[in-house]
Amino acid sequence: MFIDASSLDPASTYRLLVGSVVPRPIAWVTSGIPPHTVNLAPFSSFAWVSQHPAMLGFTINRRPTGLKDTMRNIERDGEYVINIAHQDLLDDVHASSEALAPDVSEAEARGLDLTPSQLVRVPRLAGAPISMECVHERTISFSPTGGDFVVGRVVGWHIDETVMRDGRIDTELLRPLGRLAGPRYTTLGTVIELPPVPGG
Ligand SMILES: Cc1cc2nc3c(=O)[nH]c(=O)nc-3n(C[C@H](O)[C@H](O)[C@H](O)COP(=O)(O)O)c2cc1C
Repeated sequence: MFIDASSLDPASTYRLLVGSVVPRPIAWVTSGIPPHTVNLAPFSSFAWVSQHPAMLGFTINRRPTGLKDTMRNIERDGEYVINIAHQDLLDDVHASSEALAPDVSEAEARGLDLTPSQLVRVPRLAGAPISMECVHERTISFSPTGGDFVVGRVVGWHIDETVMRDGRIDTELLRPLGRLAGPRYTTLGTVIELPPVPGG
């Protein structure tokens, strides 16, 4: 089967994207500086885009009614936190995608504790095993149906000792979540370790 991309509308393109790029890690983003509402939302169009300095990127799609709260907060404040959930937090990750009013915190609505960050003024999620404090670097805006690719520099890492082994983050201890197409998720499957490849 071959599909010419020019024949596709936004909805069918989206379906192909979320089915092809799997499983996707999830950036669970806190944004907003108190006394503003601290917003929480998941984004799976997520990757690291620079090694050193560490930069992370994710795409925020636009709503027909305008920008999502996360985008508005990042534009206003220039900082945010990307939290990483473990699998026990799945229900909270999923539920936090609900489009609540800008003055309602998804973290508060789910009873999730926030705690101050060190280098940014946006709080992080206390229960997340990893939180990365980010300063906004740049946004690459595509068409209204393309969304806004937000890139931020990691200025600080919070890593729970319980996911560390021999000085590294151990994926099996982290038990991360992956997003699939639709409201479907996956957890870590079999881990396969191969010998390193010279120069690889
Ligand atoms: C696991 C998961 C991943 C998501 N990934 C994205 C994404 O990459 N981009 C996006 O715009 N929306 C994504 N969404 C939807 C947003 O989380 C949702 O629109 C949310 O209400 C945005 O919140 P805000 O308006 O408070 O910023 C995702 C939802 C879920 C459950």
